[in-house]
Amino acid sequence: MNVLVTGGAGYIGSHTCVSLLKAGHDVVVVDNLSNSKRETVDQVESIAGKNVTFYEGDVTEAGFLVEIFAAHSFDGVIHFAGYKAVGESVDLPSKYYRNNLLSTITLAELCQEYDVPKFVFSSSATVYGENASPMIESMDLLPTTNPYGETKAMSERILIDIAKANPGFEVSILRYFNPVGAHESGLIGESPNGIPNNLMPYVTQVAKGIREKLNVFGDDYDTLDGSGVRDYIHVMDLADGHIAALENLSDGVHIYNLGTGRGTSVLQLVEAFQQVNDVPVPYEVVGRRAGDIAVCYADATKAEQELGWVAKRGIQDMCRDAWNYENSVGAESMSQNRK
Ligand code: NAD
Ligand code: WQD
Repeated sequence: MNVLVTGGAGYIGSHTCVSLLKAGHDVVVVDNLSNSKRETVDQVESIAGKNVTFYEGDVTEAGFLVEIFAAHSFDGVIHFAGYKAVGESVDLPSKYYRNNLLSTITLAELCQEYDVPKFVFSSSATVYGENASPMIESMDLLPTTNPYGETKAMSERILIDIAKANPGFEVSILRYFNPVGAHESGLIGESPNGIPNNLMPYVTQVAKGIREKLNVFGDDYDTLDGSGVRDYIHVMDLADGHIAALENLSDGVHIYNLGTGRGTSVLQLVEAFQQVNDVPVPYEVVGRRAGDIAVCYADATKAEQELGWVAKRGIQDMCRDAWNYENSVGAESMSQNRK
């Protein structure tokens, strides 16, 4: 297939481009590099041994995109582009609603105009809100605690309505749990700017000595050790999930959890990281973080049954590959304002 990957220079997009190329698909990336660098696309090409067509630009701008849709006859779009910082979305809600909603609407409209039948969308487990785990696709969604989460829930509803009105439009909504880790080559990975919001990049930076210690946000949750439990998923498993979703698409909207189905606590992850990588991760337990829930993990059976996809890599693989990337030449040069 000939696939447009928006946000393909970013963390999950770049890993998915590798999987797409390895599966024999052709890839066109559009990214405005607002949270990524052009060099990542070069790294994707060198891992896969195949070329990618790259356009720098904004996917909320229909005028810029029409030329790309006209020049390529796409079979499908995988739409990763968007802003994802939960805390920033509380301070700058319109920035998030504008980018994340306009990009989805613009791309879905262009798919109708240019007869592009397949659309795969990056959603998030955050749309489940405070439902009890395991989260299952048939659950009613609950309000999220932040505008970022709302943009995902709204984008899902927009795509459902557009698909309803346009028979033949095939939409796969993928709800990611907690993506972590990196490609095993160490050539691409997660390079957050500034102080990381997410656990794994914070842990790798503490292990590296960039930060003094990890703050563990709460040890008084109703969990096995009191710290928060999440369903961490290796980014290469997640990438492969997109190929399965794209290749198995059919008419209408299909929603899938992409998770392992297993929960891991913050303290268990820290312990696994220290053991696998033989490096200390000093930490201190502090108060809970606003907006966090105690437990969030997937029921991952629907993706297995309908797509034949299961996550193959475990928490040890995730910790090893995240640390391998942190120690690679790429990690530091890709990030800004790490101190
Ligand atoms: P990322 O920031 O690394 O990648 C997003 C990419 O989109 C970046 O390269 C950025 O430059 C680009 N981009 C943003 N707005 C754009 C625009 N208007 N036009 C063109 N390019 C634009 O993030 P990621 O972690 O790879 O996330 C990819 C998608 O998955 C996002 O939609 C995110 O909300 C979703 N998601 C991420 C997580 C996670 O924990 N990383 C979890 C659930 C869902
Ligand atoms: C994981 C666990 C924290 C940092 C977020 C978004 C979600 C999705 C994935 C995009 C929690 C604890 C964290 C730290 C800690 N993104 N923690 N110290 O909050 O589950 O999900 O990323 O869609 O929408 O909300 O991920 O990695 O921030 O936290 O103790 O310095 O680690 O409390 O229990 P989260 P996270």
